[in-house]
Amino acid sequence: MMYSRMAGTGSYLPEKVVTNADLEKTVDTTDEWIRSRTGIERRHIAADDETSSSLAEHAARRALRSAGLTVDDVDFIVVGTTTPDRIFPNTGTLLQERLGIHGCPSFALETACSGFIYALSVADKYVRLGEAKCALVVGVECLSRITDWSDRGTCVLFGDGAGAVVLTPSVEAGIINTHLHSDGRYKDLLYYPYGVSDGFDKLKAGAPAGITMQGNDVFKVAVRTLSRLVDETLAKNGIDKHQIDWLVPHQANLRIIRSAAEKLDMPMEKVIVTVQDHGNTSAASIPLALDTAVRDGRIRRGQLLLMETFGGGFTWGSALVRF
Ligand code: ACO
Repeated sequence: MMYSRMAGTGSYLPEKVVTNADLEKTVDTTDEWIRSRTGIERRHIAADDETSSSLAEHAARRALRSAGLTVDDVDFIVVGTTTPDRIFPNTGTLLQERLGIHGCPSFALETACSGFIYALSVADKYVRLGEAKCALVVGVECLSRITDWSDRGTCVLFGDGAGAVVLTPSVEAGIINTHLHSDGRYKDLLYYPYGVSDGFDKLKAGAPAGITMQGNDVFKVAVRTLSRLVDETLAKNGIDKHQIDWLVPHQANLRIIRSAAEKLDMPMEKVIVTVQDHGNTSAASIPLALDTAVRDGRIRRGQLLLMETFGGGFTWGSALVRF
């Protein structure tokens, strides 16, 4: 049996930082409200000349360097993003071109905050089947481009960033398995109102100007769903929650993260939390958190990681990983 393993990790945050104090000057909010409701202290915002593919390039090159591999080794690219540079070419192919790679399959998928776990799940299958030997898996977002900066209910939450991992074949797991889910009945609780076949013309009709969210309802469903997801992941793998070394959750909100940790009986010292530094970066948040903890030495080779995410759709998913 062949597995894939994470041979390297990388991440990138744009230079520009917007603090809670900065937002106090532009919308009716306070640092205290944002911190106590979400745990967020600052977020990074892409410069005018940055795009999802340029953020992804930084993260991808760092992941390859940490794996001791080069762009010439890459034979598969998948990018999770809900904020593509363009409608087409897809962001995976734009990243491929930036890296100077030609010919291997490259594509992007859009499952909002679950983008990285979905991309990881797909790439894992290709590596396991022997169809890829060096897969680049990226989660990236420029959410600042679809945020209504005059809406205090949402603009305090989101940020831009990218994270990446390199998967290579291994006789030992590796990615033990992934669990993916979605349910479109919740499509109206969290969404961006504009699209291609649905029509850009709504932009002129006084409809919401950015990400639209029923925050309270999203919060409740997220907590309930993540709790079920943790149970499912543990049961399907026949492991006890105390065997998990690190929880690496989607970084949306500290209170949602805390409730997942409680479910696992996990002290917060065993949970990777970076939401304070970059807000909700959707598909980028798990690989950003992972890379941070790998580089600062908390996550070490051989440890067991549980990654879990929840996002617009709703989509949700987990990955159990022997790092
Ligand atoms: N500053 C000050 N007050 C605010 C702000 C703000 N930035 N935003 C809202 N308020 C006010 C509201 O207007 C409301 O005022 P009212 O009582 O006078 O009507 C009050 O604060 C409470 O609003 P709630 O929405 O009930 O606040 P809540 O405690 O639920 O926190 C939050 C809001 C942080 C959005 C929370 O619901 C949440 O985290 N939900 C989940 C959101 C999330 O994580 N989404 C992403 C998950 S999926 C994904 O990652 C895409």
